Amino acid sequence: MRIDILTLFPEIALAPLGESIIRRAQDAGLVEIRAHNIRDWSTDKHKRTDDTPCGGGQGMLMMPGPIFAAIEELRTPESKVILMTPQGGVFKQATAQALSEETHLILLCGHYEGVDHRVIEALVDIELSIGDYVLTNGAIAAAVVTDAIVRLLPGALGDERSHQEESFSDPGLLEAPAYTRPIDFRGMKVPEVLTSGHHAKIAAWKKEKALERTRVNRPDLLS
Ligand code: ADE
Repeated sequence: MRIDILTLFPEIALAPLGESIIRRAQDAGLVEIRAHNIRDWSTDKHKRTDDTPCGGGQGMLMMPGPIFAAIEELRTPESKVILMTPQGGVFKQATAQALSEETHLILLCGHYEGVDHRVIEALVDIELSIGDYVLTNGAIAAAVVTDAIVRLLPGALGDERSHQEESFSDPGLLEAPAYTRPIDFRGMKVPEVLTSGHHAKIAAWKKEKALERTRVNRPDLLS
């Protein structure tokens, strides 16, 4: 898989992707991640990439020219072009799963008040938001989306089971609480069932606790 991130801040997009599991996935050749500065496609002598909105309104918008030039240079017939924007559909685990099956993603990061709408109409396949809040910078959202996708690539996680059992995989519950040693920490004990060795009882306990946690923290997942 290849992921190209188009942003005004390539270092912000790449910083969280340079270590641990995502670093190893790149080193193992499972994914090639590149971040490009949209400014490099500006033909303006000041390398401008933004302008004021037509018809008035607050702030600045990203101009179509540099974005069209960048995407036209990077895309192939297989590419999926994704715009990171709070106006997008919300990114979920199922979205990550579907996108992990693509061969080439171009993640376009919105900055300022957004991008000229002709970019969306002509070039963008999917508009994605990472949640109902506004970031200063779409590069942060692109790093989040890249991380969630790359960890799903076959071979990225050592233990394949670890992402089949986790939250938001079927059946859509949060995970049960987890404990490690010591069994007694400052008088707080690990629930006895977890050290019983009784697999069926442990599974039942985990299911019950997962439901309880979901009911408290994310009742929307149950309705
Ligand atoms: N850019 C700014 N806020 C964002 C969000 N919530 N999701 C994706 N891109 C963004």
